[in-house]
Amino acid sequence: MSGFQRIEVKPVAGALGAEVGGVDLANVDEETFGEIRRALHENLVIFFRDQDITPEQQLAFARRWGDIHLHPFMKGMDDYPELLEIKKTPADTRNFGGAWHSDQMFSPQPAMGTILYAKQVPSKGGDTLFTNQYLAYETLSDGLKETLAGLRAISVGDRFKSAGGKTRKEMYAGRTSMQVKDPGNVQTTSSHPVVRTHPETGRRALYVGGHCQYFDGLTDAESEPLLDWLRSHSIKPEFQCRFRWEEGSVAFWDNRCTQHYALDDYPGETRVMHRVTICGDTPV
Ligand code: SIN
Repeated sequence: MSGFQRIEVKPVAGALGAEVGGVDLANVDEETFGEIRRALHENLVIFFRDQDITPEQQLAFARRWGDIHLHPFMKGMDDYPELLEIKKTPADTRNFGGAWHSDQMFSPQPAMGTILYAKQVPSKGGDTLFTNQYLAYETLSDGLKETLAGLRAISVGDRFKSAGGKTRKEMYAGRTSMQVKDPGNVQTTSSHPVVRTHPETGRRALYVGGHCQYFDGLTDAESEPLLDWLRSHSIKPEFQCRFRWEEGSVAFWDNRCTQHYALDDYPGETRVMHRVTICGDTPV
């Protein structure tokens, strides 16, 4: 569907993702904002090039979508605690976001959207991959859709299966560029439906990001075969797009119907991004 008056929307892949032109994110009027919202709903992740925004302007744009979702485990920037600086230098052995996931899925009300702004990019590599979770759901058999209808899964914020069960403190030990904080009383384990209905589009999406550990009411061992199958199904190449960053690029993704994966393929180089997440609602 097109019919945009204020912006240009150019899909980057068959499954999801579009580059949006004609926008200065520091200066978005109401009509343009409405079209950006529609572009996000239709494309699930949208990309803007050549932006020059301050932390205040990034936060101001994010606040037009909702309150800022504070990361319970990762320390924000000294002057802007609501902004997370995602930084990887040649000294860092692991990147942030290097597993398929939906942001802050371990929260009772996970982040609705994420706005990531590239400040410094490697000469090659460091792309981000996205996958369409509407397609992941819609391509399941009717039988499996029925099985999943009543299932919920437990998501945990501090035990990464993809990193052999390590905690964030263990993973970030010795790192200078990103620091872990104590979540205090903030809830970081949550049960969510395995299939959720997007509150704005009304479409159903598979919801099995990397934070999911097991099905609610089942053991790890009982859950693993199906969960593992769903995780692999959810990232089929046909459901994906890939974004090549340039300095000044911005990606805005909808965590309610996508997962993403930050590639760690730029040894010896530095990548710096500014990330803000927007509060979402309770998945149903
Ligand atoms: C993230 O998972 O939020 C980070 C994505 C990236 O750095 O590309």
